[in-house]
Amino acid sequence: MTDQPDHPDQPEHPDQPDQPDHPDQPEHTVGVVVPAAGLGVRLGPGAPKALRDLAGEPLLVHAVRGLRAVASVGPVVVAAPAPEVEAVQALLAAYDVQVVAGGPDRQESVRLALAALPATVELVLVHDAARCLTPALVVEAVVAALRAGADAVVPVVPIADTVKQVDGSRVLGTVDRAALRAVQTPQGFRREVLERAHDAGLRAATDDAGLVEALGGTVSTVPGDDQAFKITRPLDLQLAEAVLAARAPEGGGMAVEPPRVGVGTDVHPFKPGRPCWVAGLRWEGVDGLAGHSDGDVAAHAVCDALLSAAGLGDLGSNYGTDEPQWAGASGVALLGETRRRVEAAGFVIGNVAVQVVGNTPRLGPRRVEAEAVLAEAVGAPVSVSATTTDGLGLTGRGEGLAAIATALVVRARR
Ligand code: CTP
Ligand code: MG
Repeated sequence: MTDQPDHPDQPEHPDQPDQPDHPDQPEHTVGVVVPAAGLGVRLGPGAPKALRDLAGEPLLVHAVRGLRAVASVGPVVVAAPAPEVEAVQALLAAYDVQVVAGGPDRQESVRLALAALPATVELVLVHDAARCLTPALVVEAVVAALRAGADAVVPVVPIADTVKQVDGSRVLGTVDRAALRAVQTPQGFRREVLERAHDAGLRAATDDAGLVEALGGTVSTVPGDDQAFKITRPLDLQLAEAVLAARAPEGGGMAVEPPRVGVGTDVHPFKPGRPCWVAGLRWEGVDGLAGHSDGDVAAHAVCDALLSAAGLGDLGSNYGTDEPQWAGASGVALLGETRRRVEAAGFVIGNVAVQVVGNTPRLGPRRVEAEAVLAEAVGAPVSVSATTTDGLGLTGRGEGLAAIATALVVRARR
């Protein structure tokens, strides 16, 4: 736990002056500077990086929304690309932030935004817009370390790769990975420490903590998070999309939308002399079923189950009198059209199960054949089973045939 600034074995001192929860001490105001003025050259041609799209919204919106979700975060100043200041103001109108024009490099952008922070701000976080998925816990850990007395704080993560020092293409040596950390943002500072560091006129540091180090200041670490990675190259955008897709939506819902099931039932009386169609197959030597259509109770029950699963109503509401072209359609034709409607509503069909209830036809010998025909129409696996009712009820008395179906659908990924 070398990255922890505090010492878990030591008892806490409740009367320490910087404890945030001390009832008599006003909390220091935390302000955030968001450098977002870079071009994103390594991301390839396109808009400035902070304005690139990530899951339907600009990166910068994700970054600012993440900051605003942290209760201790007060004033926020964004350094935007100079030609985009007004557009960024409009983009962030809902988040109570100030937007200033950034400078030619990151350090200058930070300096310009820092100068715009209200005088009441005593603790400053500097947070790259490009680390737009940083979890709130990382921000809170940095603030907590500052409030516990640190001058400068950086979130760090271990290095996964072996690191070598090279001279051109020749390896000079292997660096001890165990002592190395990759540094993320937000980096936190006492305001006067950060201002002194920026005023010193140093240009060498690639981050703000580096300026403090160069002046001999002490920088502490807190644990960072893999999700605080910086979007730099095109692959990082794909990773960010995947991270967002796996995250729970605001409001604490499930991370993935659960599948939906539906149920359907159909019954038709036998009508001697009619051809018998059940489960998409023609059955010779068996009485057919009455109805405008072919009377295929199995296909109809599956249609109802699919429509039910997708929340699209039922057979009657889909193929009623206002759609006369479906009046005499075969069960399989109705299944094909139902599949089309379910998919058009944004669903993928998972699977379907249908049970035929009655004495004839005897499905067992042709079950596999029936499953193949129905699966072809539905575009997903269909299980067919059959049962009798031991002589009871309309099916038991041989007056008609019934079918009960369930279907499972999932919303297709955008
Ligand atoms: N940044 C800035 N002003 C600059 C350059 C960079 O505010 N003149 C910001 C970027 O917008 C980013 C952060 O500093 O949020 C980290 O920089 P980096 O990831 O290097 O972003 P870019 O400079 O935009 O990317 P690249 O180096 O690929 O061009
Ligand atoms: Mg850069």
